[in-house]
Amino acid sequence: MKIAFVGKGGSGKTTLSALFIRHLAAAGHPVVAVDADINQHLGPALGLTDARAAALPSLGAHLPEIKEYLRGDNPLIRSAEEMIKTTPPGPGSRLLRIVEENPVYAACARPVALDEGSVRLMVTGAFAEEDLGVACYHSKVGAVELLLNHLLDGPDEYLVTDMTAGSDSFASGLFTRFDLTFLVAEPTRKGVSVYRQYKEYAQDFDVHLRVVGNKVQGPDDLEFLRREVGEDLYACFGQSGWVRRLERGDEPPLRELEPANREVLARLQTAADAAHGLRDPRRYSAQAVRFHLRNAESWGNAKVGADLADQVDPDYVLGAGRPRTAGV
Ligand SMILES: Nc1ncnc2c1ncn2[C@@H]1O[C@H](COP(=O)(O)OP(=O)(O)OP(=O)(O)O)[C@@H](O)[C@H]1O
Ligand SMILES: [Mg+2]
Repeated sequence: MKIAFVGKGGSGKTTLSALFIRHLAAAGHPVVAVDADINQHLGPALGLTDARAAALPSLGAHLPEIKEYLRGDNPLIRSAEEMIKTTPPGPGSRLLRIVEENPVYAACARPVALDEGSVRLMVTGAFAEEDLGVACYHSKVGAVELLLNHLLDGPDEYLVTDMTAGSDSFASGLFTRFDLTFLVAEPTRKGVSVYRQYKEYAQDFDVHLRVVGNKVQGPDDLEFLRREVGEDLYACFGQSGWVRRLERGDEPPLRELEPANREVLARLQTAADAAHGLRDPRRYSAQAVRFHLRNAESWGNAKVGADLADQVDPDYVLGAGRPRTAGV
C-alpha cells in the first residue's frame, strides 16, 4: 500500500506520518518510509539524531544509479540519460518490492530502529533555499515518482510518504501515485482551504483522499471540521501531550500514546488496507503514461533530444507484465 500524508505547512504531516509508520512497524508490517517534504523532518521524527538524519543518503543525489537500475534491459529506454522522472516501466524494466535487497535500497535506504519494530527510511534530500518552487524540487521528488512507478507492493506492506501539499506537488504526477492520501488539516480556515484546493485539483485524477483532523481540542474544533470538510473527514487526532513530550526531547514509547489517538492510527490503517481493494492497475499504469507524455512534450523531449513518447509500451500494466495478445 502506498500512502501519502499531505497538508499545510505545520499541520502535522510529519508527526502523523511518523506515528503511522511506528504503528505499522509495531504490528510487524514491513514499511518503507519516504521523506519527500520540503522540510526534511521525518528522520528526526522517527527518532534519529539530527546528525544521523543529516548524514542520510539522498535519493536526489543517486538519481542516475536509480535510473540505471530501474531501466534494466527495457529496450524502449536506450540509456539512463534518456530516462526522465515519468518514464514508465515496460518489459525488461526492473521493479522494486517493499521487502527485498536491491541496489536502490543499498544506496538510498537506511534502517531505523524504533521502540517497537524497525523500518527503512529514504529521503529526497534537503532543498536549498534557491530550489524552492522551481525545477530542483521537482527533480528531487522525481526520484520518488520513479520509485513508485516501479514498485510492486502487496497488501500487508506499506510505503508511507511525508509530502507537501503545495502547488509544487501538482506539477508532477507524484500525487496520483498513492493508493490513499491523508490530508492533515488543523481546525482552521487555512487548514481547510488547503484541503479544498487539493481536492479540487485531485478530483480529475481518481486520487483517494481522506482528511485527518489534527490538534483537535474539543467539540468546537470537531464541529468546525465536520462542517467544512463533510464526508471526507475520516478521523481526528487530538491535541496530544505525548507529542508535546516528544517535542520536549523525551522519547515516549508508542504504547504510551493517548488511547484515543492510538485508535486514530488504527483507523488510518483500516482505510489504507481498504484502499487495496480499490486498486486498478490498468488505470494506474495509464495515468503514469499520461503524465509521461505531458512531461515529454512540455520539457522532456527538448531536454533529452529524442521523442520520449517512444518509451511507452501501451500494453504494459504494472504488476501484470505485458498482457498476451488475445487468443495467443
Ligand atoms: N496532535 C498534536 N498535538 C500536539 N502537537 C502537535 C500535534 N501535531 C503536531 N504537533 C506539533 O505541531 C508542530 C508541527 O507539526 P509537524 O512538524 O508534524 O507538521 P508538518 O506539517 O510536518 O510541518 P512542516 O510543513 O514544517 O513539515 C510540531 O511542533 C509538532 O510537534
Ligand atoms: Mg514536516
